[in-house]
Amino acid sequence: MLCIGIESTAHTFGVGVMDNEKVLANEKDTYIPPQGWGIEPVKAAQHHRRVWKDVLQRALRQAGVKIYDADVVAFSQGPGLPPCLQVGLEAAKRIVSEGNQPLVGVNHCIAHIEIGRLFSKLNDPVTLYVSGANTQILAHVSGRYRCFGETMDIGIGNALDKLGRGLGLGFPAGPKIEQEAKSGRYIELPYVVKGMDLSFSGIVTYALTKAKSGISLADICFSFQETSFAMLTEVTERALAHTGKTETMLTGGVAANKRLQAMLETMARERGAKFSACPKEYSGDNGAMIAWLGLLQHKSKINNLKPGKADILPRQRTDDVDVGWM
Ligand code: ATP
Ligand code: FE2
Repeated sequence: MLCIGIESTAHTFGVGVMDNEKVLANEKDTYIPPQGWGIEPVKAAQHHRRVWKDVLQRALRQAGVKIYDADVVAFSQGPGLPPCLQVGLEAAKRIVSEGNQPLVGVNHCIAHIEIGRLFSKLNDPVTLYVSGANTQILAHVSGRYRCFGETMDIGIGNALDKLGRGLGLGFPAGPKIEQEAKSGRYIELPYVVKGMDLSFSGIVTYALTKAKSGISLADICFSFQETSFAMLTEVTERALAHTGKTETMLTGGVAANKRLQAMLETMARERGAKFSACPKEYSGDNGAMIAWLGLLQHKSKINNLKPGKADILPRQRTDDVDVGWM
């Protein structure tokens, strides 16, 4: 069974083509804001409107298929930036108007989990989902992905990007901070875990104040990673202990970070649990993960939409969705 998946929640417009578990194509084009700026939703949506046809054509060519070869079309319904989600919905509607397939709306965060499960070969993990806008510790319990802990303000990726902006590093800052951190030494930063929830924005402000007072770029980057990743590891470990699960998975754009992977791997090993990170190609926003979740949902008849009635769900939560395919 073949599915075309459309991703457009934030800075990336992506189109993936999955033939059951096989990725036939995974094309994308990412909006990069001007130096010193964060994502402006309307500008990102203008970018998506400009590139969507080209990204779709590239994906179809790469997969060697035509629109009408697809059995189902899926799109990111939410959560995300409304103007960006709207472009994805319109693109998906255009495709099904040509190919006449069923249209499936999928939750972006769950797509990150499911593509991670597919490639990590883990069955029922506690998932640390870390991206720009989202930071959640999730596990499947009683038919849904329940949230055991999350950020109370910004996601860890946005925190890294904000810190990077203040330090004069370009966007996205995560990989640059990872590089700088390699030669850094530790200075103490606030460690903010409240119950099972986390907060990052105060640490960013504090770290930027330290940078102004003369602490080196490398030391700031190293200390920010050590502190925030230790917070994430602590809460993930407690979710493992609470649920009794024996697998840990890392997914989302920040999953590419080798230091975060190493911390989680050590924690899992010490508990006798398995650890695996979603491969980098599929851990950031991409169309293949939307196509894969579209197939899972379509096969279990979840959220097949009438194109005329399909709408975006910008604030949909991970634990709003019934996970009938597990
Ligand atoms: P979501 O909509 O799920 O919140 P997103 O739109 O933020 O996702 P992703 O591609 O999942 O997009 O994640 C992007 C984030 O990942 C950026 O904040 C970026 O700085 C961060 N990132 C990418 N590579 C690394 C890395 N090596 N280390 C740390 N952070 C990274
Ligand atoms: Fe994402």
